[in-house]
Amino acid sequence: MSPCAPARPLVLLLSGPNLGLLGQRQPEVYGRATLEDHVAAARAEAEALGLQLEHQQTDHEGTLLEAVHGARTRAAGLVVNAGALTHYSWALHDALAAFDGVVVELHLSNPAAREPWRHTSVVAPVAHGLVAGFGGLGYRLAVRAVAELLAQRRQEGP
Ligand code: DQA
Repeated sequence: MSPCAPARPLVLLLSGPNLGLLGQRQPEVYGRATLEDHVAAARAEAEALGLQLEHQQTDHEGTLLEAVHGARTRAAGLVVNAGALTHYSWALHDALAAFDGVVVELHLSNPAAREPWRHTSVVAPVAHGLVAGFGGLGYRLAVRAVAELLAQRRQEGP
């Protein structure tokens, strides 16, 4: 990159509890691809769209909250697959509410078609939209949604 090239907007992909086990964990629900496979797909999509992508996975709610706090000053968008925290972490809800950029909620499975306790998302009220049920394809779709929403924001101006 030339020293004068503008920095590409940053998309932070956040993966919550148990997602580090993808590939081994309930493959009949979540597929055989690993989290690294999904991150690579998301990164390829981001780069094709002129964005840069960072990824963080954690099994700890507080670490996820700190990642969202840190994103406030450096990320243009968040793609969040919070795992089961999606369904009950009001602390995550509040952290996301304090983020001014674009937020896309992501799930491999379609929680609305699963057990009733998965039908509630505390992320949904503070997300611009939701990508769910498309398996690994969702990672590309979610990054694309962030890119489109950022482009819309640029058109609309400050
Ligand atoms: C998930 C759906 C959640 O209900 C579940 O707790 C997960 C994975 C998904 O990607 O389908 O851990 O977020």
